[in-house]
Amino acid sequence: MSVLDLLKTTAGLPERYRSLPEAEMIKRVEAIKKQMGDKLYLPGHHYQKDEVIQFADDTGDSLKLAQLAAENHQAEYIVFCGVHFMAETADILSAPDQTVILPDMRAGCSMADMADIHQTEKAWDILQDTFGDTILPLTYVNSTASIKSFVGKYGGATVTSSNANAMVEWALQQKERILFLPDQHLGRNTAYALGVPLDEMAVWDPIEETLECSGPVEEVKIILWKGHCSVHEKFTMENIREVWETMLGAQVLVHPECTFDVVQAADLSGSTKFIIDTIEKAPAGSVWAIGTEMNLVNRLINTHKDKKIVSLNPNMCPCLTMNRIDLPHLLWALESIVGGNVVNAIKVDEGTAHFAKIALDRMLEYSK
Ligand code: 13P
Ligand code: SF4
Repeated sequence: MSVLDLLKTTAGLPERYRSLPEAEMIKRVEAIKKQMGDKLYLPGHHYQKDEVIQFADDTGDSLKLAQLAAENHQAEYIVFCGVHFMAETADILSAPDQTVILPDMRAGCSMADMADIHQTEKAWDILQDTFGDTILPLTYVNSTASIKSFVGKYGGATVTSSNANAMVEWALQQKERILFLPDQHLGRNTAYALGVPLDEMAVWDPIEETLECSGPVEEVKIILWKGHCSVHEKFTMENIREVWETMLGAQVLVHPECTFDVVQAADLSGSTKFIIDTIEKAPAGSVWAIGTEMNLVNRLINTHKDKKIVSLNPNMCPCLTMNRIDLPHLLWALESIVGGNVVNAIKVDEGTAHFAKIALDRMLEYSK
């Protein structure tokens, strides 16, 4: 079921939660956490708002949260503070008697929505006709459960931005070529860092159903799905030039979902975890322009007051879908559990989950 279909069958936040004072909501969330103890687990992605992240039992990037979901067997309810594909991953990796809840069903991911399963099956057929049985599919975890399932069925794996290098290396040992879904930038940046030249990469356009490549088609090693993150694409070369001109000694640190030119021009690039670790280790007085989601950049600014940190794009907004999870939705989700009428449960059907788990397990095995 797509996120849109889900929305049609799901009720929104009841009116009574819309005007509650913040202090009252905090008190009620704290009370439920205390009452439920280990029966409740609340993981939070680093891009979540402070008003939510303050209640997280664990915070992490998408790799760490997937690992934690696979390890936690005692919680009856996992209330996932992140986006839809992360909650699906938690459901696939958790035990059948655990219930995963996403506090707001509108917390999707525009990148994940850029590859649907019908487009992927069509692309696969055309690419098999062109290249024969030489392709291994890899998908960024920022994809629907159906795409993960497709990838698992054809021998491939999921990747996150923390392990993309290792997973692309692994994939190139299995087959001559990779189909990398759905983020062209993470795929291109990773493959290039591993030594694959740009003219051995092609872009599959799922709308036009065409393969765009600059070199000979038979030499293509990496087929990049034409998807992107609408948040990270907003960091531009113009922003970098502005930093170079106005912030003496600043280092530019970006997420690999940024475009190729931005990643090439940056001093450093890496996953959410890499960005956090880099700032933690940086000396006092160092100057940073960071290209990633705004809730995280603001948190880094507030936690590391001894360093000068700015957003690479001064007009940047937070990821709107991550931001859907707020205190009223969190409280609603928790009170629905206590009231015995669970809302917004995420359940991936068994058939889809089976192969999706194979793809996720392959990744987790290589990420130990
Ligand atoms: P990480 O894999 O770095 O957690 O990124 C997830 C994400 O959604 C980035 O936009
Ligand atoms: Fe998706 Fe980009 Fe938001 Fe991450 S930041 S959840 S990739 S839209």
